[in-house]
Amino acid sequence: MENSTFQEKKYLLNSLEQTYAFGEALGKILKPNDVLALKGDLGTGKTTLTHGIALGLGINTPISSPTFTLLFEHTSSERQIPLYHFDAYRLEDEYEWYDAGFMDYLHNDGVSIIEWADRIEAALPKETIWLSLRTNIVEPNHRKVELKIPDTRNFAWQNLLDWEIN
Ligand SMILES: Nc1ncnc2c1ncn2[C@@H]1O[C@H](COP(=O)(O)OP(=O)(O)OP(=O)(O)O)[C@@H](O)[C@H]1O
Ligand SMILES: [Mg+2]
Repeated sequence: MENSTFQEKKYLLNSLEQTYAFGEALGKILKPNDVLALKGDLGTGKTTLTHGIALGLGINTPISSPTFTLLFEHTSSERQIPLYHFDAYRLEDEYEWYDAGFMDYLHNDGVSIIEWADRIEAALPKETIWLSLRTNIVEPNHRKVELKIPDTRNFAWQNLLDWEIN
């Protein structure tokens, strides 16, 4: 990641509904083979956001937290794009990720979303899209998002304008 350059934008999601709506808008502009790495403390909304993204991909099956299974696969009936939803929380390091055979999924024409991606950062491709979520003590339902898109990726930023902040 050190060698890549990114374009970065910030967003404010001030309710659960906005997180779903933002996720859905993001899901609509993701493409096969995109890898979306999610960072953020416990309960910041990584799974909730993934649910929104799944809706944007046309996936209507329930999205639960893959903490104990490490990977859930979903397929969109509408867009035919599989979603590989990972949770790296219980992985010690990137070697456990390699051992599980997860690298193969990243180039398999699906969209991959990885919660706690910072645990396995060294394993992720340099084209990875990074998204971090932060809470605000004063406003418990607010989430601040930082989205980093590699310069090599032509990204439809205008789809996310509604939530953008400086
Ligand atoms: N604006 C918001 N966006 C997302 N979640 C919100 C928001 N406001 C409140 N919440 C609450 O925060 C919690 C987010 O939980 P979620 O499981 O999505 O987090 P997570 O980051 O996946 O946690 P974990 O690290 O345990 O996987 C939910 O209880 C949700 O209702
Ligand atoms: Mg989660």
